[in-house]
Amino acid sequence: MGRGAPLGPCLLRAALLLLLSLCPAAGSTWMWLGIAAAGGPEKPGCTSPPLSRRQLDLCEQKPELAPAIREGARLGLQECRSQFRHERWDCRSPPAARRGTAAPAALGHQLSSGTKETAFIYAVTSAGLVHSVTRSCSAGNVTECSCDPSLRHGGSASEGWHWGGCSDDIHYGMSFSRKFLDMPLKNLTGKSGSGLVVMNLHNNEAGRQAVAKLMSVDCRCHGVSGSCAVKTCWKTMSSFEKIGRFLKDKYENSIQISDRLKKKLRRKEKSQRKVPIGKEDLLYVNKSPNYCVEDQKLGIPGTQGRECNRTSQGPDGCNLLCCGRGYNTHVVRHVERCECKFVWCCYVRCRRCETMTDVHTCK
Ligand SMILES: *[C@@H]1O[C@H](CO)[C@@H](O)[C@H](O)[C@H]1NC(C)=O
Ligand SMILES: *[C@@H]1O[C@H](CO)[C@@H](O)[C@H](O)[C@H]1NC(C)=O
Ligand SMILES: *[C@@H]1O[C@H](CO)[C@@H](O)[C@H](O)[C@H]1NC(C)=O
Repeated sequence: MGRGAPLGPCLLRAALLLLLSLCPAAGSTWMWLGIAAAGGPEKPGCTSPPLSRRQLDLCEQKPELAPAIREGARLGLQECRSQFRHERWDCRSPPAARRGTAAPAALGHQLSSGTKETAFIYAVTSAGLVHSVTRSCSAGNVTECSCDPSLRHGGSASEGWHWGGCSDDIHYGMSFSRKFLDMPLKNLTGKSGSGLVVMNLHNNEAGRQAVAKLMSVDCRCHGVSGSCAVKTCWKTMSSFEKIGRFLKDKYENSIQISDRLKKKLRRKEKSQRKVPIGKEDLLYVNKSPNYCVEDQKLGIPGTQGRECNRTSQGPDGCNLLCCGRGYNTHVVRHVERCECKFVWCCYVRCRRCETMTDVHTCK
């Protein structure tokens, strides 16, 4: 369907903020997120994350990576939802679209709209893929990669430590993520001319760079009863939550670029053009909508029915989250075991406690 069709018009449509499903080539690049979005039953091998043609080829060449591909998509989307759980856009799609299985339906517009939110999704899922593939490498599940061989020996005897154990080697994961996620985008245009494509490619790379930048060193002490005379150290990736927080910060400070490219990336803000753009920065082309009201077509769920915090001044506060529409309050009753006492011997006796809490939801 449309795979051989000219891609220029397709991208143009994406730029015009129409549904991604009208744009089969761009959509299929993102189908791999579908499985994680739908949370459907897993099938073994490369059949279960719905993949584009090229991605399927890659997966079939390396079937041992299929679990890591699934895990990468899951990791990325889960982190997106966690980082945005208090915001108007919470990395979810309207309930009706959620019933669909493919990510284009699930995240809809957000994958093609060229906004800050698009930037975050690309970065966090591309980072997720690096993370999960690297984990597989370290676990010895992939023939082409393993723990970092350069960090198996050596160290500094005078400082009392040496490399040992398994250091995560992200090179294979980085290059796999580039092949798997960037190549289909590049092939979309033939040349990477459009602002939207350049933006997406840059944000994919920003996600990978975040994983690389947040690598750290862990050590374990040896020696007589914790004297720590000798330490074994290894390089390890940060938790994905930490990577997610880093990317969220990049999202808050993301840079708008001009979609009319002149050979290279340019900031939209003319007075800022001299300030260089870093490879870890997140870039966007289009301003975001306010995400207040449901819009099926654009894949925006709106904030009606979302739980808000009456006392918070932050984005989760009822004022901001409900976009000034006000909120409903209902009382929720919790029953739990409390005041538990240990009774000699040997049981625990508790009372039943009831608490009432007010829950506020946006009108
Ligand atoms: C490695 O493979 C084993 C066996 O298939 C699996 O149980 C484990 O989860 C895999 N580990 C990683 C990190 O991929
Ligand atoms: C995509 O691009 C790569 C490298 O640029 C090339 O090897 C491959 O044949 C292209 N695939 C398609 C389907 O155009
Ligand atoms: C609501 O916000 C306040 C202030 O930010 C915070 O202290 C409180 O824990 C929040 N309540 C809930 C239920 O999250």
